[in-house]
Amino acid sequence: MARHFLNLSDLQAREIRSLIERAIELKSMWHQNLACPQIMQNKTVALVFEKSSTRTRISFETAAYQLGGNAIFLAPGDTQMKRGESAADTARVLSSMVDLIVTRTGIHDTAETYAKFSTVPVVNGLSDAYHPCQLLADLQTIQEVKGGMDGCSVAWVGDGNNMCVTWAIAASLLDIELRISTPPGYAPNPSLIKDCDFSRIQVCSNPIEAVQGVDVVVTDTWLSMGQEDEKTEKLAAFESMQVTSSLMGNAAEDAIFLHCLPAYRGLEVQAEVIDGPQSAVWLEAENRLHAQKALIELLLAA
Ligand code: CP
Ligand code: NVA
Repeated sequence: MARHFLNLSDLQAREIRSLIERAIELKSMWHQNLACPQIMQNKTVALVFEKSSTRTRISFETAAYQLGGNAIFLAPGDTQMKRGESAADTARVLSSMVDLIVTRTGIHDTAETYAKFSTVPVVNGLSDAYHPCQLLADLQTIQEVKGGMDGCSVAWVGDGNNMCVTWAIAASLLDIELRISTPPGYAPNPSLIKDCDFSRIQVCSNPIEAVQGVDVVVTDTWLSMGQEDEKTEKLAAFESMQVTSSLMGNAAEDAIFLHCLPAYRGLEVQAEVIDGPQSAVWLEAENRLHAQKALIELLLAA
């Protein structure tokens, strides 16, 4: 039976910790020009994406090549799904030929359908509900910059979106304290975080309260993919949620700023924060490659 990674909670806490250690090791090998373990020789990953991507696509394709394998990217409209072939039939066919499937779906249920009908591991490369691959890279970044994740405090300032939900799951699995500040009406969907450990999650009434003394401040776009029609109302609702240098001043002196990217300067984050000395976003983006190589190793070995 194939092992899937649709949600961060598909891994146990000890597996996340060892995956991150392995990602750091693979990164160090790569930076020293040492050969990567060729665990994907004669193996192929198919990326089936319904939505745009820069980092997720490039990091998985590059990971496959570095591990000695091949990657096939199927853009929206490239496949017979455009003409009505189901995710179930697509998953059956793809998994008879490739060794790993990475999906980027509008509706999370579609990723679940791929997993149900695939005989090879399916990885959720973002759905409307979760973005677990991004969290692996974020946790790796915290491990590298802070020297560890345990006991770390994180403030989420912004939309209660797929990233916020995945942070809540990360806090529940690991020893992380998460404080969430969203505008009224934009809290994370309760059904997606119902199994979370709320002793580690605090909902704050404003961003200043959320970031007070924290080690990490995180935000994301106010307009996730597919929400383009909500632009006017969301920009108005999120007006006071920008991560500014003044807001960062309430966090710990050595706090870092994370953002999964793409970022919109002047909206969710001030340019001087994302381009400033506390920003770890470029490290975070590069870590997508290393964390996913470690993930591929884990899933293909299962
Ligand atoms: N952070 C992230 O998933 O980026 P892409 O949308 O570019 O893949
Ligand atoms: N919340 C964003 C993340 C993009 C990587 C979205 O879903 O569009």
